[in-house]
Amino acid sequence: MIRSVYPVKISGCAKLGKNKRRTTPDTYLLAAPGGSRSSDARQIVRAIEAEFLKGRRGRLARFYPEVFASREMGRLYGLVDAHGEVVAALAARLAKIRSGDAGSTVAMIGFVVTAPEHRGRGLGQRLMNESAEHLRTSGVDLGVLWTRRHDLYLKTGWQIADPTVVGKWRGGAAPPASAAWTKAPFAPALRRRLNSLRPQAALERPLMLYDKLPYPAERLWVATSPGAHVLVGENGDAAHALEWAGDPARVTDLLADVAQRWPDLTLRGTAADPVARHLKRGGLVDFQPEPAGMWISLSRRFRKRDGIWIPRLDRI
Ligand SMILES: CC(C)(COP(=O)(O)OP(=O)(O)OC[C@H]1O[C@@H](n2cnc3c(N)ncnc32)[C@H](O)[C@@H]1OP(=O)(O)O)[C@@H](O)C(=O)NCCC(=O)NCCS
Repeated sequence: MIRSVYPVKISGCAKLGKNKRRTTPDTYLLAAPGGSRSSDARQIVRAIEAEFLKGRRGRLARFYPEVFASREMGRLYGLVDAHGEVVAALAARLAKIRSGDAGSTVAMIGFVVTAPEHRGRGLGQRLMNESAEHLRTSGVDLGVLWTRRHDLYLKTGWQIADPTVVGKWRGGAAPPASAAWTKAPFAPALRRRLNSLRPQAALERPLMLYDKLPYPAERLWVATSPGAHVLVGENGDAAHALEWAGDPARVTDLLADVAQRWPDLTLRGTAADPVARHLKRGGLVDFQPEPAGMWISLSRRFRKRDGIWIPRLDRI
């Protein structure tokens, strides 16, 4: 476990990209636990927030407490140049996979950024390589991340592996609603109940995750009926069904109720899930694969077919 910020000297130069005239400056890797108040950690967070706050008010710690406010789960990395400036940064969250044999520790990587004036000089690749090595030596087995552009990560040893499917609700009017609606923050008893009903037992979910807003959601809701629930992220007139559990017909009724409130309803699930298959068969949702997830072996070998589904709420 990282207890304090400390520099790790890196020697040698990163491989240059196509712009061969520019050289990569000598850099140091900084590592810090999430929630650290040291000036180095604050500089890393500032570099990340410059890119990723995206107009949201407040600090990223408010939206991602498990990364930026938790010493146990959060990890912050920064590349510092010869002038002491953080020129590239990323954040990670540690989690346990509980499926299969022994539990593996996985680091979810996110918020990867190089300062605009330093892009295209190999710093992003260097940061990915050096932080992966640091995570590996701190006992992390696997890395996972999600992106719309895979090229940087393919260059640094990551593989695309993700069974996520995404589709728009195109079913008809809702049947008489029997759902009970609750707006987050959820009471502890409801969090525990939702956690125990989760369809995917693959990743341990700390209950504090129910406090975060999975981007771009502005509000989190849960609709429940006997034997079913749907977790919904609201974003203005649109909504995302982030996960669901229960009997397929009952979940379908709940989703129809969700679609009555937000006709622009996007659903995210996994190809093998019986509810997703039921919705697709019924012509209610035309699910398409969205293989945005990537994995990397750190201290454990990763095979593509082991790329588990990680629900949106659990992602960094
Ligand atoms: C992505 C990013 C971190 C790359 O940093 P960098 O220091 O320029 O990266 P490197 O010089 O080591 O490598 C550049 C390679 O990254 C890839 N790349 C460039 N922009 C990218 C992007 N937005 N997402 C993924 N890969 C990207 C390209 O393959 C590029 O190679 P090329 O120059 O030969 O085409 C930087 O462009 C950035 O901060 N973008 C804004 C934030 C962002 O989009 N982060 C990624 C979220 S998944």
